[in-house]
Amino acid sequence: MPPKVIRALRFLKPSMSDIAERKDISALLARYPPELRQSALMPVLQDVQEQHGYLPVEALEKISSHLRIPIAHIFGVVSFYSQFSLTPRGKHIIKMCMGTACHIRGGHGVLDEIQSYLGIGDKQTTPDGAFTLEVVRCLGTCFLAPVIMVGSKYYGALTPAKARKIIDGYRDGNESAPAVRRKEAAE
Ligand code: FES
Repeated sequence: MPPKVIRALRFLKPSMSDIAERKDISALLARYPPELRQSALMPVLQDVQEQHGYLPVEALEKISSHLRIPIAHIFGVVSFYSQFSLTPRGKHIIKMCMGTACHIRGGHGVLDEIQSYLGIGDKQTTPDGAFTLEVVRCLGTCFLAPVIMVGSKYYGALTPAKARKIIDGYRDGNESAPAVRRKEAAE
């Protein structure tokens, strides 16, 4: 990633909790000996993302110096895998599937409803930090199409109205619609 982009990313304002949490990365890095280098990179990135909800640039710099891997290479890995995010994400991640089965069974109508109801597009987060929307290609549960995933829960056979109800459930702190766990879905 070009230096000017890295500099620009630094201007993303961290919250006080971000700053406090970032101190903890040293303890996390201590679990990965520098000799592991490349083989430790993915697990470290996953751990940091799990801890922060995204990958702060400062954390990537620390990983770079700890594992002695060039920062440009780390940015290459982060931008290649869609599981990683360089910007803060919402409390609830909504993955909307737009793969073939979901597309054919009305996924576009559900996606339009979610976007207009939340006022955000793909890879955007609501101003209150409650929801991030991510459009994905297939969630591996095509028989539930059209399907969304919120956190680790699947919601299938969706209509625009059902999608709105699910979002309201998360807003109110209780998930109103019954979810289908991936394991159950596969049975
Ligand atoms: S196409 Fe949507 S889950 Fe596979």
